[in-house]
Formats: sequence, C-alpha cells, structure tokens
Amino acid sequence: MMTTQVNKEPVCVTGANGFIGSWLVRTLLDGGYTTIHATVYPGSDPSHLFALPRAGNANLRVYEAEVLDSDAVSRAVEGCTGVFHVASPCTLEDPKDPEKELVLPAVQGTINVLEAAKKFNVRRVVLTSSISAIVPNPGWAKDKVFDESSWTDLDYCKSRKKWYPVSKTLAEKATWEFAEKHGLNVVAIHPATCLGPLLQPYLNASCAVLQQLLQGSKDTQEYHWLGAVHVKDVAKAQVLLFESPAASGRYLCTNGIYQFADFADRVSKLFPEFPVYRFNGETQPGLIACEDAAKRLIDLGLVFTPVEDAVRETVESLKAKGFLGQQMSKS
Ligand SMILES: NC(=O)c1ccc[n+]([C@@H]2O[C@H](COP(=O)([O-])OP(=O)(O)OC[C@H]3O[C@@H](n4cnc5c(N)ncnc54)[C@H](OP(=O)(O)O)[C@@H]3O)[C@@H](O)[C@H]2O)c1
Repeated sequence: MMTTQVNKEPVCVTGANGFIGSWLVRTLLDGGYTTIHATVYPGSDPSHLFALPRAGNANLRVYEAEVLDSDAVSRAVEGCTGVFHVASPCTLEDPKDPEKELVLPAVQGTINVLEAAKKFNVRRVVLTSSISAIVPNPGWAKDKVFDESSWTDLDYCKSRKKWYPVSKTLAEKATWEFAEKHGLNVVAIHPATCLGPLLQPYLNASCAVLQQLLQGSKDTQEYHWLGAVHVKDVAKAQVLLFESPAASGRYLCTNGIYQFADFADRVSKLFPEFPVYRFNGETQPGLIACEDAAKRLIDLGLVFTPVEDAVRETVESLKAKGFLGQQMSKS
C-alpha cells in the first residue's frame, strides 16, 4: 500500500545517543521526520542511531557538540525549525564537583541551546526537564496530588546534597526566564523514571535503578521518585508536544504517581526469582498516589504503556546486553 509522505520540519535533537535521545530519534524517524540533526558529546559513539529503522532513508546528521560549546551547538541547530533539548548530565551518583559536573552543563548548556534556537528562529523548543524539577518539595500541601504547579525546593535539595534535582530545576527556571525575555516558544516535559529497552550500548541511570532493585538494593529513591514511564511514551510525548500547536507550559510524563515501595512490590511479583527488597512502609513519606497524574498529556491523546510492560522489556534488554545475570536467586 502506498503511504503519503508528509513533509516534516527539520529538527535538532541534543543528547541524541543517550537513552531518551535514541528513542526520540527512533520515534521521529517512525513519524516521517527526514532531516534530523543529532548532537552527541564529542567522541561518543552514535553508530546505534544509524541502525534504527528508516535511518538509512533519512538525512540523519551527527554533530559533535559539548553543550557548553556555544559555537558547536549553534552549528547543530542551524537549519532546524524545531529543537528537542535532551542533553544534560543524568546521574544520581554524588558528584565530586556538583557545580562543574552537573549544574553548569545543565544550566549553561540549556542557555546555549536556547540562544541558538533564538538565533535561527526556531519555531518551538521542547525542553526535557524532569520530575526532579517538581519534587522534592516538602512545602507542597499534604493532601494534594503533585502536579505541574509544584517546583523542587532548592534549599532543601542543597542541604541534602541532592544535586541532580538542583541542576534540573535551575535549568528549567533559566529556560522560562529566557523564553519570556526573548519570546521563544518553549514547552517542557517532566518524565518520571524512564524504563524500556536500551537502544544505546551503555547502562543509563534510570535503567540502573531497576537493575539495582533486582539485585537487592535497599535504596528507597526517596528524593528521585514519583513513578515510572516507558521511554517510548516519553519520546511520543516529546513529538506530540512539538506537533500540538496549543501545547504550552509544563507536562508531567508518568504512568501514575505512587511509592517506590509499590513499584518494588510490582517488580517482585513479575520477577520472583530476583532478590527484590520488600520495603516496609512509605519510601516517599506522604506521597499521594494518583493513576492519571499526567492528565495534561492524556488530554492531548497520549496513551501510557502499562508499567509492567516497561519493566519486562527493560529486564529483557538488560539481560541481552549483559547488565543483568540470568541466574539470580532470593536465597
Ligand atoms: N532517564 C530518566 O529517567 C529521566 C527522567 C527525567 C528526565 N530525564 C532527562 O532526560 C535527559 C536524557 O536522559 P537519559 O535518561 O537519556 O540519560 P543519558 O542516557 O545519560 O543521556 C544524557 C545525554 O546527555 C549527553 N550529555 C551529558 N552532558 C553533556 C554535555 N556536557 N554536552 C553534551 N552532551 C552531554 C550525554 O552524552 P554522552 O552519553 O555521550 O556523554 C547523553 O547523550 C536528561 O536531560 C535527563 O535529565 C531523564
């Protein structure tokens, strides 16, 4: 059957070879985008992007760009009318130098991307923020479900040395300030813990959360959790936000809000052969559960994949890539 090829705009994806970035490139290719400028950290291997379905027929161009290098970022954005800013250090490990390792690349890197978008009259920037710019927020009303109006409490995070939420929150605040000052069209997405098959060769931080849980970790993810989401839904949502003229503001992207302890129970039921720790009580004190927390995306038409599918597919992928032993045992 003949399909009609609708011309899609040329777009730039920063951090294109990472976990979310690779899924986004795949989703754009599936959606008929034919000109994609993919930025990667200098020296990173982008070869898995060229193995994606339809990559061979597209104009997929790789640009090496450290996001702190404004000229390199500018070269990548030139010629595009859409920018998906994904690149940002994504690690939950304690950095030695938080300002240099996390905050600066997140904030100045984002500003450099926005500057380039402004310079080349980009129609819309889709910023990949995070639930980490929404929580932790201990001042939030105790009886209220978290939504997009919540902002992470920076002093609380700094006093606990939780630098990843600090980096994401400062980057997003700088984005809205820039957008308002320069009249740039920006929409932000706030994914929860992303799971799903790894397209990239290395283990990313959010899939490592599941890997470690399956290996018996007792980490409660207290400061970094609202729920989980399939990475393919995040990529679909990013494209949806780019393509929906009426989209604006912040979009929480999670298949429900619930305690990490509940997630661990679900994982344990799916994979009883793994020594998943059973948490006692609340892992996120006071967190109120909600199934349709991502109402704004659901209203735009996004249908979320069951979290069980995301978990199963992640486990298969972790095993296939050698990040998870086959013979774990509870004993
Ligand atoms: N995974 C999640 O659960 C989750 C949830 C919410 C939000 N996010 C956000 O989603 C984005 C992507 O995360 P991910 O899960 O896909 O993690 P990831 O696989 O580690 O991807 C991060 C990407 O950013 C690139 N990057 C980091 N620092 C850079 C720099 N200074 N210059 C240029 N590129 C740089 C990395 O390049 P190299 O790998 O080549 O160094 C990588 O491609 C991040 O903004 C993260 O905060 C992730």
